[in-house]
Amino acid sequence: MTSKNTTGNFQENLWRGEFGDAYVDRNAVDPDMLAARTASWSEMLKTVAGAPPKSILEVGANIGLNLRALRRLSPAIFYALEPNEKARARLVADQVVDKGNALDGLASKIPLADGAVDLAFTAGVLIHIHPENLLASIREIHRVARRYVVCIEYFADKPTEIPYRGHNEALFKRDFGGFYLDNFPDLKVVDYGFFWSRMTTLDNLTWWVFEKQP
Ligand SMILES: C[S@@+](CC[C@H](N)C(=O)[O-])C[C@H]1O[C@@H](n2cnc3c(N)ncnc32)[C@H](O)[C@@H]1O
Repeated sequence: MTSKNTTGNFQENLWRGEFGDAYVDRNAVDPDMLAARTASWSEMLKTVAGAPPKSILEVGANIGLNLRALRRLSPAIFYALEPNEKARARLVADQVVDKGNALDGLASKIPLADGAVDLAFTAGVLIHIHPENLLASIREIHRVARRYVVCIEYFADKPTEIPYRGHNEALFKRDFGGFYLDNFPDLKVVDYGFFWSRMTTLDNLTWWVFEKQP
């Protein structure tokens, strides 16, 4: 099968264009959703309470539902990397991050120095990156994270592609935690878990908190 990815940045164009804008328009700041995200981050941050991150980057932040939740829990400095312009405008207009901290770009090329943030994470973003670009993307996340990497994604035992909103090559599931560990021997699992939709209203997400070993 010919991969759309090799003929042009299909996934990038999707998220930067009308498809990405429509996601922003659907993505409301709902109080119940914010409460659910706050509860989920409270559980994940507990695992790093001994040395809490003072700076946090969300890769693929969209309108910042995670960052809005995190702001309730942490006094850290927040950064957002987001390819969709409309989403970045919302992040700045709603003061989720400072203007200079709303970065345009892709996970595969993060415009920050090595170890620029204490913690870098994705939530529902690695699933939208073509497998050919996945290693380059997590390399960048690992590079900019000084201490912690958090990964919150859909899980599958084996790499699986499923159609997403009428598109092929737009959603890929796998064991993303295993993929991090296989590629970065310096990562230690601090904790991991599952946000079951029936108990959390979140979308059956598997999460991992990793810490870099010196
Ligand atoms: C499903 S949304 C998740 C948004 C947010 N992380 C959340 O949990 O609410 C996916 C987001 O990732 C962004 N995105 C897609 N591909 C990306 C890439 N290669 N690098 C960084 N962000 C990307 C999209 O523009 C979109 O905002």
